[in-house]
Amino acid sequence: MRPARRLERIPPYLFAELERKIAGLKAEGIDVISLGIGDPDMPTPPHVVEAMVRAVRDPGTHQYPSNRGRPEFREAVASFYRGRFGVELDPDTQVIPAIGGKECIFNINFAFLDADDVALAADPGYPPYTGGPLIAGAEPVLMPLVPERGFVPDLDAIPRDALKRARLLFVNYPNNPTGAVVPDGFFEEVVAFAREHDLLVVHDSAYSELTYDGYVAPSFLATPGAMDVGVEVFSLSKGWNMTGWRCAAIAGNADAVATYWRLKTNVDSGLFDAVQLAAAEALTGPQDPVREMCATYQRRRDLVIGALHEMGIDIEPPKGTIYVWAPVPVGHTSASFAEEVLEQSAVVVSPGSAYGPNGEGFFRISLTVPDDRLAEAVERLRTSFDERSRDPEL
Ligand SMILES: Cc1ncc(COP(=O)(O)O)c(C=O)c1O
Repeated sequence: MRPARRLERIPPYLFAELERKIAGLKAEGIDVISLGIGDPDMPTPPHVVEAMVRAVRDPGTHQYPSNRGRPEFREAVASFYRGRFGVELDPDTQVIPAIGGKECIFNINFAFLDADDVALAADPGYPPYTGGPLIAGAEPVLMPLVPERGFVPDLDAIPRDALKRARLLFVNYPNNPTGAVVPDGFFEEVVAFAREHDLLVVHDSAYSELTYDGYVAPSFLATPGAMDVGVEVFSLSKGWNMTGWRCAAIAGNADAVATYWRLKTNVDSGLFDAVQLAAAEALTGPQDPVREMCATYQRRRDLVIGALHEMGIDIEPPKGTIYVWAPVPVGHTSASFAEEVLEQSAVVVSPGSAYGPNGEGFFRISLTVPDDRLAEAVERLRTSFDERSRDPEL
């Protein structure tokens, strides 16, 4: 059996070796703490679960959903955007549900890219911004994100020949994996750039609700002119602890939303109506659980930043996301550091190189484990680090 060539275009899975080692350690009975994947440990808010239970009991939700989505869902997204971001959306033409942000991002590539077209993607970045274009037969062109520029791409540095073929520009703030937030003026620059080069901007706002120190993340769609050139992929996964529910929306430019819908009618049969109704409750009901979650992640972030500081790794605390992005100690690559941490401390961190070539030299810690486990992980890191600095043989 031979898999399709398009699958072979995807680079090898960098976590594979790490996963093999984790499985080996667990088989030996070692207590491994994973700070690898960004999957919230806290439950979905109870009022959302209750709304789901009610919706599931209603036989009206049991048939094929429509790919346009239920009016309750589309109106809830529009109402949330108005209240939270000051953005007006027409629920009939500018919003439809997606089966999670990942599905949406992946399918946008198929809806907008032909062979040899280019999608501009951040490096490091969330892997579907590069895997999606590759599987769609197109080409991802990487835009380096470096600390010196606040992890914001230099749009003027994008090669001219790539720009001529570019159709999509992926942007994501608060940013995975770097934790960076968007600086003033960047979204405006993106709108002007997209106009000049006829690009569709896809802003992934997966972490817009998870911010700290009083910072409030804007919607890209609130930028003047953004509605002409872009869409936003808004996921409920992280903000409402709903990763398992697979629930997101695409919102913004009506033509782009309709194009995505046209593709989707050929690919899947929509998002379970009961999930749409529960999501509507999440968006329009009380928002205290989101605020409480931010307080929890901020506390965990401070714990990790403090420990890294004691280990001689000084970084600015991120203002958003559920990640800490830090440079590996001198003498290590991303992979060698992740392997050493696993072997010596039984703690899993993500090697930065898994997110693109410019992730080399960094590692990512996810804050999605309970406080006591995080404290234990941090203690183990500190101890093995202390031993390492005491013993030059190590
Ligand atoms: C930047 C970014 N976008 C989208 C997603 C996926 O979200 P969803 O669960 O809605 O597919 C993630 C998940 O980690 C992410 O980090």
